[in-house]
Amino acid sequence: MSEGATKKEEKPRKFQAIRGTRDILPPETTLWNRVEQTAREVFGTFGFGEIGLPIFEQTELFARAVGGETDIVSKEMYSFSDPPEDIADYVVRLVQEKGQEAFKRFAAQNATEFRKEVTERRVVQFVSLRPEATASVCRAYVEHGMHALPQPVKLYYMGPMFRRERPQKGRYRQFYQIGAEVLGGPDAPAIDAEVIEMVMTYFAKLELQGVELNINSIGDKNCRPKYVELLRAELQRVKGMLGADSQRRIETNPLRVLDSKVESEQPIIERLPRIADHLCKDCATHYAAVKRQLEMRGVIYKENWRLVRGLDYYMRTTFEITAAGLGSQNAVCGGGRYDGLVELLGGPPTKGIGFAIGEDRLILSLQESGKAQRPQGRDVYIAWMGDKAHATAIRAAKDLRAAGFSVELPPIEQKFGKALGQADKLGARYALILGDNEVSEGLWTLKTLADGSQQKLTEPDLLDFLRKL
Ligand code: HAM
Repeated sequence: MSEGATKKEEKPRKFQAIRGTRDILPPETTLWNRVEQTAREVFGTFGFGEIGLPIFEQTELFARAVGGETDIVSKEMYSFSDPPEDIADYVVRLVQEKGQEAFKRFAAQNATEFRKEVTERRVVQFVSLRPEATASVCRAYVEHGMHALPQPVKLYYMGPMFRRERPQKGRYRQFYQIGAEVLGGPDAPAIDAEVIEMVMTYFAKLELQGVELNINSIGDKNCRPKYVELLRAELQRVKGMLGADSQRRIETNPLRVLDSKVESEQPIIERLPRIADHLCKDCATHYAAVKRQLEMRGVIYKENWRLVRGLDYYMRTTFEITAAGLGSQNAVCGGGRYDGLVELLGGPPTKGIGFAIGEDRLILSLQESGKAQRPQGRDVYIAWMGDKAHATAIRAAKDLRAAGFSVELPPIEQKFGKALGQADKLGARYALILGDNEVSEGLWTLKTLADGSQQKLTEPDLLDFLRKL
C-alpha cells in the first residue's frame, strides 16, 4: 500500500474529568490549603491529632457502619471486587521457585495447608471507595487497640470521599471532607458541646458567613424505636397525602420523611409527633445538658426536630451547620453522636461523636461571600537582558527565594517592555530590572508595579528593603 493510501490519521481523543469530579486549579488551591491549614491549627488547639486513612475499605465495613439500607450504601458507593492472585499464576510461581520435583513433594507433604492457601486466594474481596470516614476511624480505633490509650481519643482527617450522587452546585461524586471524631471517654454532654464549639470556632476563624447551627436529639435504642413506630402509625394515617418517596419511606425509614423538602408535604410534617416529646429520661437529660453546655460556651444554636441525618449510626445528639451562598446544598457540616458503632465493628463498648465538613461547600461559601482573599501574585519578577545580566538574575533569584520571596525568573531574554507586561499579568508587586548598566554599576533598578515608581538599590539594600515591607 502506498503512503497516500494509508488511513487518514485520527485526531487523538481529548479526555475530560469524569462527571461529578473536577480539577482544583491554582490560585484556588491556595484557598484550599489555607482552609486545611486553619483546620489543623484550630483542631490542634483542642488537642486533636491527624489520622491518615485508606481511600478504600471493605464494602462490608460501610454496610455495617453507615447501614445497608441507607442511600449512601445501597445506591451511591463505588464498589468493585478486588480479584485474588490467579490460582494458575500462583502455582506456576511456586513451581518456578521450588523446582518441579520439590514442588510435588511440597504439595504432597503439605496437602492440607496447600489446599487452604489456594482456597483463601479464591476469596474475592469486595471493596468500596469510602463514602465517608467515620467508619474507617472506628475501624482504625479497634485495629490499633486505641481503647488502651488515654481516653477520649481525638482524631481529625481530611481528604476525598466518593458518592455516586446526581451532581449539582455543591454536590460532587468526588468531594472533600474535613472531619473530626472523639472516641471513648465518659458519657459527658460537655464532649458533644466542645466538638460543636470547635467547628464553630473554626468557621469563625475563616469568617464564614451566614453560619447557622441546627441541633436535635434523636434518642437511643430505648426510646427511638417506640417513637419510630408512633411516627409510622401517624404517617400511615396521612399516607394518601404524601408523595411516592415519602410513602416508600414509611416502611423503610419513616424518620427520613421528616427530611422531605416536598412543598405539599410540609404542613403535614409539621403536625407529626416530635421526637423531643418522646425521649426517654436519660436522653432528655443528656439533650438538655448539651444545650446548657453550648450556652456556657456562647455557641448559638437553633433546635430543629426534623434533623434526622442520613446515616444509621447516629443516636442522641445530631447537628448540621448551614452557610451562606450555597443554594439548595447548603449543609456545610453534619455530625452527631454514635455510641455503639465501635462495638458494632468488633471493638469494646465505646462512646463516639464527630462531624464532617464538606470542604468543597466551605470553599464555595467563602468565595461567594468574598472571604476568599485574593491570592497574592509573585513578589518579584526579574526582567533581565544580556548574558551577564542573566547570570546575575539567576543569583538574585536564588538569594530572594532563599529569603522567602516568590520570584519569577523568565527562562529566555525578553525586551524590558514585554517583561514588564508579563510581570503585570502575573500580579507581581515588583519588577527587578537587570541590564548591562545595572550589573556593571552594581545598582539594581526596582520598579513598584502598582504606582510605576522606580529606585536604584545595591544588592544588600534590595533585600533589606523587601524584608521591611
Ligand atoms: P454527611 O452529612 O453525609 O456526614 O456529610 C458531611 C458533609 O459532607 C455534608 O454536610 C456536606 O457538606 C458534605 N457532603 C456530603 N456529600 C457531599 C457531596 N456529594 N458533595 C459535596 N459535599 C458533600 C458524614 O459523612 C458523617 N461521616 C459525618 C460524621 C462524622 N458524623 C460523625 N462523625
